[in-house]
Amino acid sequence: MLNFSYVNPVKVVFGKGQISRLRELIPMNAKILITYGGGSIKKNGVYTQVKDALAGHHWLEFGGIEPNPKYETCMQVVEMVKREKIDFLLSVGGGSVLDGTKFIAAAAKYEGGEPWDILEKGAEVKDAVKIGCVMTLPATGSESNSLAVISRNSTQQKLAYYSEKSFPQFCILDPETTMSLSERQVANGIVDTFVHVSEQYMTYPVNTPLQDRMAEGIYLTLIEETPKVKADPMNYEVRANLMWCATWGLNGWIAQGCVQDWLTHMIGHEITALTGTDHGRTLALVLPAVWSYLRESKKEKLLQYAQRIWGITGNDSNQVIDEAISRTKAFFRQAGITATKAEYGVTDEVCRKIAEIAETRNPRWGERQNITGKDVLAILDLCD
Ligand code: NZQ
Ligand code: ZN
Repeated sequence: MLNFSYVNPVKVVFGKGQISRLRELIPMNAKILITYGGGSIKKNGVYTQVKDALAGHHWLEFGGIEPNPKYETCMQVVEMVKREKIDFLLSVGGGSVLDGTKFIAAAAKYEGGEPWDILEKGAEVKDAVKIGCVMTLPATGSESNSLAVISRNSTQQKLAYYSEKSFPQFCILDPETTMSLSERQVANGIVDTFVHVSEQYMTYPVNTPLQDRMAEGIYLTLIEETPKVKADPMNYEVRANLMWCATWGLNGWIAQGCVQDWLTHMIGHEITALTGTDHGRTLALVLPAVWSYLRESKKEKLLQYAQRIWGITGNDSNQVIDEAISRTKAFFRQAGITATKAEYGVTDEVCRKIAEIAETRNPRWGERQNITGKDVLAILDLCD
């Protein structure tokens, strides 16, 4: 029986040339801090578009939020936000810049002890500086959700939090901004979106036929659009479709009423924390192993996926599931992710550390909250 309550307050502004709308989306009297990453926005013209749109506004900037944004960097910006009395944060870049900005916005208003407690101890975010974003990388869905993932150098941790206070007020999605992405980032984004859908779909049935069809719509669109973006990277229509898939992959709606997993992400985050591997690549490595290992508890959904996404049917359910997993792996390869566990530095030592972390997590990982360290070792053993 469906039973949920969800509000997604993010205003989505989608299409070519929409960055100019910033001038009306941010109040004239706001004191803005523009946050960005390592400089891609200066090379692809996005910075100039933002600057032109905000010509009449009062703004400062901070560049240097790194991929897998670091707590240490965010805390420097928190100081700046307080010192300069910033009351609007505008994130311009990928998911890392936006996640970092969400955390900065929350940490700047945090009145407890150390803001790290928001991530490690689930301390409540009672208030946050207002945020808007120009998203230049379709992958995380961060533009339309209340989640942020932050890493801490000193402890090699990578942790997530979510809070209603961390939704952006608006997101501008101009597919043209994604034309400058490297093939590697395009591939990462496609796989990240695919795996977000999977974390909300590949569990066990609880009578959510519409949510299932919506999730399957995203899978099928990704499968259709991926060869097109590889063949014709400057095709605006294809870029637009991929961008809209990423937003829908994690804007919260396909999850409503469903059971969610997130095991692949939990293991993937730890791989990134320990080896620095890109988020999308960790997911491509881990997801097939999770499906293979948990094939009994995910059986009904795996069979539904096999049939509806890849047209695979048959009497031998193990064979159908194996084939569906192998088609999924081939899709990740087609998207452009081919490396193996060894190339990502996922050594036995790394696997052991992740298994230890799994043992201490409360609640346990997985849709049934029953994944032990032993399960994690077995899953990592199944990775290529
Ligand atoms: O830093 P700059 O110079 O901007 O370069 C970035 C970065 O090097 C570059 N890039 C971004 N847009 C570009 C571009 N290069 C050329 N043209 C453009 N238009 O791409 C590189 C990677 O950027 P990053 O923001 O790190 O990638 P992504 O958007 O995939 O974000 C990954 C982070 O998001 C977290 C991940 O764990 C990881 O930390 N996630 C956040 C989620 C959320 N908030 O909902 C959910 C996800 O599952 C994920 O965990
Ligand atoms: Zn992800």
